[in-house]
Amino acid sequence: MDPNANPFNPGAGTPPPELVGRDPILQQANTVLERIKRGRSERSLLFVGLRGVGKTVLLREVRRRALDKVYAVEMIEAQEEQTIAQLLVPALRRLLLDLDGAKKTIASVKRGLRVLRSFLGTVKVKAGDVEVTLGVDPEAGRADSGDLESDLKDMLIALGEAARDAERPIALLIDELQYLPKRDLAALIRGLHAVAQEGLPLVLFGAGLPQLFSQVGEAKSYAERLFRFFEIDRLSHADSDEVVRGPVQEQGASVTQDALQEIYKQTKGYPYFLQEWGYRAWNLAPENSIDVEVAREATRLALRELDHQFFRVRFDRVTPASVSTCERSLNWAKVCIDQAKSPTSLARPPTSSDRYAMRSSERAWSTARLMGISRLPFRCSINS
Ligand SMILES: Nc1ncnc2c1ncn2[C@@H]1O[C@H](COP(=O)(O)OP(=O)(O)OP(=O)(O)O)[C@@H](O)[C@H]1O
Ligand SMILES: [Mg+2]
Repeated sequence: MDPNANPFNPGAGTPPPELVGRDPILQQANTVLERIKRGRSERSLLFVGLRGVGKTVLLREVRRRALDKVYAVEMIEAQEEQTIAQLLVPALRRLLLDLDGAKKTIASVKRGLRVLRSFLGTVKVKAGDVEVTLGVDPEAGRADSGDLESDLKDMLIALGEAARDAERPIALLIDELQYLPKRDLAALIRGLHAVAQEGLPLVLFGAGLPQLFSQVGEAKSYAERLFRFFEIDRLSHADSDEVVRGPVQEQGASVTQDALQEIYKQTKGYPYFLQEWGYRAWNLAPENSIDVEVAREATRLALRELDHQFFRVRFDRVTPASVSTCERSLNWAKVCIDQAKSPTSLARPPTSSDRYAMRSSERAWSTARLMGISRLPFRCSINS
C-alpha cells in the first residue's frame, strides 16, 4: 500500500496512530491533574517498564492533558552523566517565566527566580551551549547552602509557591529517570516530599526502566508513599490486534484475522514491535488488505532489521552497571526457580522488589528468546 499513507509510527516516543490499552493509567493521570489543580494532594506517578513499551508516549499524552488543563508544563529527559542541576535549572527557569507570561509581576515568581539564582550560584548550567543567566540577584539564605538536598528542597518550594500565587499548577515530566545518580534522585524525592507536605500545586510524572523501582526505594525509604508506580507492560492480545487493525481500517484498508494472529505471535504485544510489524506489513501489502503471507514477510524483514539495529545498538551500549543489574535479576530468577518457582518459598518473606525482580527477569528471558536474541551475530548466547 502507499507508503506515504502508512499510519504506523515505529520509533522512540513517536506518537502512535492510536494509543491503545492505557486508559486506566490515563484516567489516573487525569485524576492527579484535576486534584492537584483543585489544591488537593495526590501522589506523583511513575511509569516503569522495559524499553519500547510506551513510557515516553504516555508522558507525552499526560503533557498534552496537563496543557489542556492550563498547567505550566515542562517535559525533560535525564541523560547519563548529567547532574540534576544541569537537568532541572533550564526547565525551572522556563516554568517560572511561563507562570506569569514572563511579566515577572507576581512577587513569588520574582522570588522564585532569585532562589533559582541562588541555586545556580553553586552550579554552572548550560542550556545548549549558552550558560544560563537570570538577570536577578540571589535570594540570600535560600537554596545557597551548598547541600543539594536542602537547596533543591528550597528551590522546589519556591517554585510551588510561585505556582500557587500565579494560580497555575505545575506538571514536571521527567523521562529516563533511572539515569539520575542516587544522590540526585534522593534530593529530588526530598524536594517533592516537602512540596507535598506544604500542599503546593506541583506534581511530577516520571518514567524509567525497571531498575527505577529499587533506585527510588534505596534513595528514600518513604518514596513508596510519595509515588504511585505503574508497571507499563506489553499489551493484551485484543489490544495488540487493535493497535494494528484500528489504523489500517481508519485508512479504508483491512487486515485478516490470520495476519493479526501472526503479528501477535511474533510481537507478543510489545508496542514498539507492533508498530514495526504494522509499518512493514502496510508497505508490503500489494492490495488494500494485509493477509498472513504479507504478515510473514513483515516478520522476516522486521527480525532482520531488529537484529542489526535495535538489538545491536543495545548490545553495544551494555555497561558494567547494567550487566550487574541484569545478573542480580537473573540470580533472583534462579533462586526462585530453584525454590519451587515461587518467591513465597524463599527463606524470608519476599519484598516487593524481590517479586518485581523475579517477574522482570522471567520476562527478560522470554522476551530475549522471543525476539531472537540467540540469533544475534555475537559471541553471547542464552543457553536455556
Ligand atoms: N499504547 C500504545 N499503543 C500503540 N503503540 C504504542 C503504544 N505505546 C507505545 N507505542 C509505540 O511504541 C513505540 C515505543 O514507544 P515509546 O518510545 O514511548 O517507548 P518507551 O517505553 O519510552 O521506550 P524507551 O524505554 O526505549 O524510551 C513507539 O513507536 C510508540 O508509537
Ligand atoms: Mg522512552
